[in-house]
Amino acid sequence: MTRRLVFSLGLLSCLLFSAQAFAIEYGDAHAGGQKYQQKGCTGCHGEGGRSSAPTFPILAGQYADYLATALQDYKEGGRKNPTMSGMAGGLSEEDIYDIASAQCTQCPGGMIDSACCRSNAAVIRL
Ligand code: HEC
Repeated sequence: MTRRLVFSLGLLSCLLFSAQAFAIEYGDAHAGGQKYQQKGCTGCHGEGGRSSAPTFPILAGQYADYLATALQDYKEGGRKNPTMSGMAGGLSEEDIYDIASAQCTQCPGGMIDSACCRSNAAVIRL
């Protein structure tokens, strides 16, 4: 009985711990949509990430983990582009997760901060 209780407690703390570990990896898609506009990303990548200029990649519909990795790489120098190094350098890790989460592959057109993205925010894990 005691042994079983100890085991259950161990399992429970394990679950709690991993829930906590995942919690910080969730991006907030709604905040991300706002940051995307505030930080001036729209100027090049277009409204909702749907760039119309071939020089600027379309971000809408990209996988969140791909975008987060790309931004992290620009920030840390693993991927080099003068413009994007500057832009990503100004983003915190939280900003990166939020902005990446706002690109929703599940939503029509992969729109940033659409109502659909917001309702899907909880299922996007980076
Ligand atoms: C002045 C124009 C400009 C602005 C502003 C800008 N970007 Fe970019 N972005 C680019 C260009 C050009 C590239 C392609 C760079 C390359 O070849 O690696 C790029 C690439 C990217 C990529 C990689 C896309 C891919 O398909 O690999 C991401 C992600 C990205 N930008 C996100 C952002 C975010 C988020 C912001 C706002 C914080 C932002 N960008 C602001 C011009 C811009």
